[in-house]
Amino acid sequence: MNPCSAPAVSASTPPNWVDDRTPLGWLIARVLAVEPLRQLLFLQARRMMIRTAERRGIPWRARRDALQEQAEPLLAQSTAEGITTPAYYRARFHAYAEGNLCWAAACEAEQATASVALRVWKEEALSAEAAQARMREAIFAAIEPSLTGPVRQALDIGCSVGVGTLALKDWLDARERASVAVSGLDLSPQMLAVARVRDADGRIQAWHHAAAEASGLPAESVDLITGQFLCHELPAAATHAVLAEAARLLRPGGVVALVDQDPESEVIRAMPAPLATLLKSTEPYLEDYFRLDLAAALADAGFCRIRRVASDHRHRVMVASR
Ligand SMILES: C[S@@+](CC[C@H](N)C(=O)[O-])C[C@H]1O[C@@H](n2cnc3c(N)ncnc32)[C@H](O)[C@@H]1O
Repeated sequence: MNPCSAPAVSASTPPNWVDDRTPLGWLIARVLAVEPLRQLLFLQARRMMIRTAERRGIPWRARRDALQEQAEPLLAQSTAEGITTPAYYRARFHAYAEGNLCWAAACEAEQATASVALRVWKEEALSAEAAQARMREAIFAAIEPSLTGPVRQALDIGCSVGVGTLALKDWLDARERASVAVSGLDLSPQMLAVARVRDADGRIQAWHHAAAEASGLPAESVDLITGQFLCHELPAAATHAVLAEAARLLRPGGVVALVDQDPESEVIRAMPAPLATLLKSTEPYLEDYFRLDLAAALADAGFCRIRRVASDHRHRVMVASR
């Protein structure tokens, strides 16, 4: 019996628009079930995202083309042999029919995360870089109280193109006043190829091509695991499997930190129906994410000292110790 099986953090109820049993949720689900309407919404969401980003100084299309040119030659070294890609991962994500397994998704991920950060402080005239730095600093500040000793080895799961991984490396190097071994892990070779382009100085120890639930890495080899904006892309069963793998990889006393959309956030809960419809049409596992009691899932995986911290008014970090 796990002594931490009764987490102090209580479960959140999903926002109304996620729940198909409410009238609004029901209506949204019906709209999304009509394929031509869904496709139209996808297109609409994508256009809106690019237009807004370019207006706010993110050179979306130019950066995409430049990244792809540099990343394509790095695809082979970013692809591991014998990786089993889970079926759920091949779903349509965001505006991409091939989900995360395509160049467009990989070469637009940096711009997309810049847009996410800008949206957090949309009333302020922040640059994309400043917003990104503020968002990451708040995430790492939420982790700090759970760290009881030095961090020598860290792993960023679902690292995408490495924006959060490199921010983690900066933070840990400053914390330890030394170079910390930080690695990234993702299931998309295209994302990892772009990560390598962005990590031109080779500061990251390794970019692993693997599933977060079957990393193939040694047991008890890591002090800190971060999953930044990963969980909302996972069906519930995969989240449970990822947590079990994190528990295996962490040294005793090691810490896992998962940041993602905050079901308690007023901004998220009060999202206008058209926006919620667009969001749902691009995120196949959003409902699973909001329905899952992540604190209970962490406890089931054997984690203790579970904390929930709102890192900004849209995101929460769940931090737990092994
Ligand atoms: C929203 S992105 C993460 C963003 C990034 N961590 C950041 O902080 O900017 C989600 C990433 O998780 C990856 N992913 C999804 N399921 C995964 C799994 N089971 N194992 C490893 N990576 C996964 C996707 O390929 C994608 O790159």
